[in-house]
Amino acid sequence: MSTATTPTAYNYKVVRQFAVMTVVWGIIGMALGVFIAAQLVWPALNFDLPWTSFGRLRPLHTNLVIFAFGGCALMGTSFYVVQRTTQARLMSDNMAAFVFWGWQAVILLAIITLPLGMTSTKEYAELEWPIDILITAVWVAYATVFFGTIAKRKMKHIYVANWFYGAFIITIAVLHIVNNMAMPVSLFKSYSMYAGATDAMIQWWYGHNAVGFFLTAGFLGMMYYFVPKQTERPVYSYRLSIVHFWALIGLYIWAGPHHLHYTALPDWAQTLGMVMSLILLAPSWGGMINGMMTLSGAWHKLRTDPILRFLVVSLAFYGMSTFEGPMMAIKTVNALSHYTDWTIGHVHAGALGWVAMISIGAIYHMLPKAFGREQMYSIGLINAHFWLATIGTVLYIVSMWVNGITQGLMWRAVNIDGTLTYSFVEALEASHPGFIVRMIGGLFFVAGMLLMGYNSWRTIRASKPAEAQAAAQIA
Ligand code: HEM
Ligand code: HEM
Repeated sequence: MSTATTPTAYNYKVVRQFAVMTVVWGIIGMALGVFIAAQLVWPALNFDLPWTSFGRLRPLHTNLVIFAFGGCALMGTSFYVVQRTTQARLMSDNMAAFVFWGWQAVILLAIITLPLGMTSTKEYAELEWPIDILITAVWVAYATVFFGTIAKRKMKHIYVANWFYGAFIITIAVLHIVNNMAMPVSLFKSYSMYAGATDAMIQWWYGHNAVGFFLTAGFLGMMYYFVPKQTERPVYSYRLSIVHFWALIGLYIWAGPHHLHYTALPDWAQTLGMVMSLILLAPSWGGMINGMMTLSGAWHKLRTDPILRFLVVSLAFYGMSTFEGPMMAIKTVNALSHYTDWTIGHVHAGALGWVAMISIGAIYHMLPKAFGREQMYSIGLINAHFWLATIGTVLYIVSMWVNGITQGLMWRAVNIDGTLTYSFVEALEASHPGFIVRMIGGLFFVAGMLLMGYNSWRTIRASKPAEAQAAAQIA
């Protein structure tokens, strides 16, 4: 066969682009997280300007860390993993380039429109309708390239990592389209097609499955490829990975109502959400155990390999946040935790401890390979990054637990005559030390990301195009 029909090399260009932008958006999105954390400590940092107010920068933070940092990590690693596990080049180089540039355009539009106050007001789906259409076009191209590459695969078997990436791609497409159905009234303003309790339910069906499929299933795909690779051991149980897959995707989709406890949503729907969330603990821990046990017989590698440490600690945080989540879904627990910083702590146990740490570990493994280098420029710097990230995450979570429980208890405290014991401002004052500790935790985490930026830059600078070309050869 001619080389025109059978390419001999993987498309690593798009992998390199996404890997670099993961680091860049990680630094920017998390630095913005530190800035809004500082605004909660010193409100004067809002500068009395609408564009720099907490209300506008907070959604920019969530969009940058989830969709820019997390999205680039998922797209980059999925393109790398799908090629290597199918031994086929991406289906189309042009479409892959469109996915990369289209996604960067979406992010830039978010950076422009959110501070200007253009928002659909739906959490994690704030972007207005023209950008939503662009996201749809990029996502269709992404799905086409990913599944088109699987269709071209050289072997019958489809490795389990691709199942998770595939479920993430399909489900996010459905969620995005259904939740963003809206009637435009101008180029920058639209109104949701849904109203009242229906709107709330659609939004949290979307919101929770954004957690389940964007922040979980895709990253589990990453886990199933990079943990065995970095450990140099096969995955602990392939059978468990298949059970894990079907149980996880079957259950997640029902758990959304736990975001709407004690609201106008029918009571049975709230109870259903609670029960499904509790059952969700089982597949979540099944996945974590499968990842952890892959290290059987190779635990000693943790002593010398900081990349593996990132991957394993991310699994520990995954286990922790997927234990905490089902507990918070219990209605009586949620009566205390809802609206408090406990939720914020839970979010970042998942976001920093799981999503960011597994992405960082995966990028440290993948980036040098995509640039034709054996390993990163400095292992010492990866180690320093690991400690900064771990300490930062712990400071963040612990301060938010203390704040959350303090707030919940202060808000519900009543005197014998039935009046409230504390005013809202008193609870806010009690939260101030926690806000400071969270900001310091964030600074630790960002400092680690800056080390990663420097380490990546030195690695890339040392790479030679010929080596990168050779590394991309299909075995
Ligand atoms: C240096 C690291 C980070 C810092 C300092 C930080 C800080 C913050 C702050 C201050 C808030 C607003 C909390 C509030 O409204 O009271 C927030 C919200 C949020 N952040 Fe971060 N963040 C960081 C990293 C991340 C990452 C990596 C992710 C995701 C991958 C993430 C996802 C979120 C989400 C989803 C929310 C909204 C939570 C909710 O509405 O319940 N953050 N962050
Ligand atoms: C078995 C798994 C999980 C369950 C059952 C679960 C459950 C919950 C519950 C009950 C809440 C609080 C809802 C409220 O009071 O408003 C919540 C909030 C949240 N969780 Fe989880 N969680 C799980 C895992 C995760 C993971 C792994 C992540 C992140 C990577 C995550 C991210 C979030 C976010 C972003 C929110 C805040 C949503 C918002 O109000 O803006 N969760 N989760």
